[in-house]
Amino acid sequence: MAGLRILLTGAQGQVGHELAWLLRAHDVVATDRAALDLTDADAIVAAMRAARPQLVVNAGAYTAVDLAERERDRAFAVNARAPQVLAEEAKRAGALLVHYSTDYVFDGAASSPYTEDAPTGPLNVYGESKLEGERAIAATGARALVLRTSWVYGTRGKNFLLTILRLAADRDELRIVADQTGTPNWSRTLAQATAALVARGLPFLAERAGLYHLSSTGATTWHGFATAIVGDAARPRVVPITTAEYPTPARRPAYGVLATERFRAAFGFALPPWRDALAACLAARAAERAD
Ligand SMILES: NC(=O)c1ccc[n+]([C@@H]2O[C@H](COP(=O)([O-])OP(=O)(O)OC[C@H]3O[C@@H](n4cnc5c(N)ncnc54)[C@H](OP(=O)(O)O)[C@@H]3O)[C@@H](O)[C@H]2O)c1
Repeated sequence: MAGLRILLTGAQGQVGHELAWLLRAHDVVATDRAALDLTDADAIVAAMRAARPQLVVNAGAYTAVDLAERERDRAFAVNARAPQVLAEEAKRAGALLVHYSTDYVFDGAASSPYTEDAPTGPLNVYGESKLEGERAIAATGARALVLRTSWVYGTRGKNFLLTILRLAADRDELRIVADQTGTPNWSRTLAQATAALVARGLPFLAERAGLYHLSSTGATTWHGFATAIVGDAARPRVVPITTAEYPTPARRPAYGVLATERFRAAFGFALPPWRDALAACLAARAAERAD
């Protein structure tokens, strides 16, 4: 297959870093914050016109959920305005856009997995800004795949897995919220799925443009996730607590499991169960550290 011209944003992020590696056979302009500031709409236009991509993969995002409560404008610039400009430019150039969104577009009142058509109702600024990004992309009429996912972790960056491993090294007890349910997703499995989509070719993807839930299967709580990370170790003890006992600036949905049947039906594969992905990630991390 001839390589595609691809513009990648957020190339130093959890998903973006994995994508830069997995898409390396293509002609990728991989941009991080230093190369392309997503709060600068003019810079996005200039980058798009210089790169002339056939495919845009927007892995950049403002993901600091609590800080977003105080930085609303910045969150909306990166999560809503930037995707809009990318989509406008993609439409103008006839390019396809792949964009990521979040389970935090939902209010968490459900008790069975959310389908793509379920009513949204974000509880925090981050979720509002991501929902606005979805709507802004749709409004441009650009051909786009919008992939909602949840609870992303990996071997680099700031994430729950690395926080728990760090805390577990010097604490006897971890107190972890047990009344929020969702699905952890390894950034590499999300990037691998994206690369697998890209490998199917642009016409295939253009025919299937739309909104999809992309997530590992299964569900757990943050407490369950932490327990799985710590494994069989005698310490630390992982103690369940309530959200009320761990107040944060941003409210979080109590339930955010995503139904993934639409993605499987359209593309013919699914992500692994979350525990399998976690085991693979821990093995990859051990191998990285042994190098
Ligand atoms: N992380 C999660 O738990 C989670 C859950 C559901 C959905 N998602 C979605 O999944 C996608 C990938 O997330 P991720 O976990 O890979 O996020 P991430 O690790 O935070 O990566 C996002 C990248 O975007 C960059 N960025 C932020 N502001 C920028 C700006 N103004 N200009 C240019 N780059 C900027 C960040 O750079 P800095 O590091 O310099 O800020 C970072 O490298 C995002 O769309 C996110 O909303 C994430």
